[in-house]
Amino acid sequence: MEPKPPQASFTVLTEMIFPNHANALGTLMGGQLLYWMDVAAAIAAYRHSQRICVTAAVDYVSFRSPIRVGELLTIEAYVTRAFHTSMEVYLKVFAQALPSNEKRLSNEAYYTFVAIDQSGCPIPVPPVVPETEEEKRQYEESLRRREMRLIAAGKLDPAAASTLKLK
Ligand SMILES: CC(C)(COP(=O)(O)OP(=O)(O)OC[C@H]1O[C@@H](n2cnc3c(N)ncnc32)[C@H](O)[C@@H]1OP(=O)(O)O)[C@@H](O)C(=O)NCCC(=O)NCCS
Repeated sequence: MEPKPPQASFTVLTEMIFPNHANALGTLMGGQLLYWMDVAAAIAAYRHSQRICVTAAVDYVSFRSPIRVGELLTIEAYVTRAFHTSMEVYLKVFAQALPSNEKRLSNEAYYTFVAIDQSGCPIPVPPVVPETEEEKRQYEESLRRREMRLIAAGKLDPAAASTLKLK
């Protein structure tokens, strides 16, 4: 399969925060943000694989600063690395208080998607060829993140993890 750069999957999703997205304090609900992140990550995974993709895992997500009603939310997502049938997607979330042009980084996360066929069986996806320094760093580090999440899911014996040094 022809390798693809992360730029091929780069996705930007922009939303305005309305009262129906917020809690009683007028700040964005965490679950709503996770939903939009899932959508952005799914589009990035689809752009990379050109296949139907399902969410296999969501890594630890922390909400650094509240996003308020009336603010703009921008999510950037791209595939950092493809393994066999799975892809790791890196997401950055920015908030912007209008009319300022200044964006503040709200949070970052990694989602894992698996490409599936019409029967729901995992199918291979093209490899990723990182180009920029940041993409190369993300690519290298993704193997360790993958092993950590597979250990957490009970799908990998820690002793078999190549990036963990166990005594
Ligand atoms: C994700 C899913 C397709 C994996 O199917 P599976 O039968 O477990 O398949 P496998 O064990 O062969 O794993 C397939 C790939 O998924 C990866 N994977 C499976 N579980 C994972 C997890 N918890 N975290 C990260 N990757 C995972 C495997 O590492 C493998 O990747 P690789 O081919 O690149 O090495 C299946 O579990 C599924 O359909 N889950 C529900 C998805 C869904 O509905 N998501 C929406 C939220 S409800």
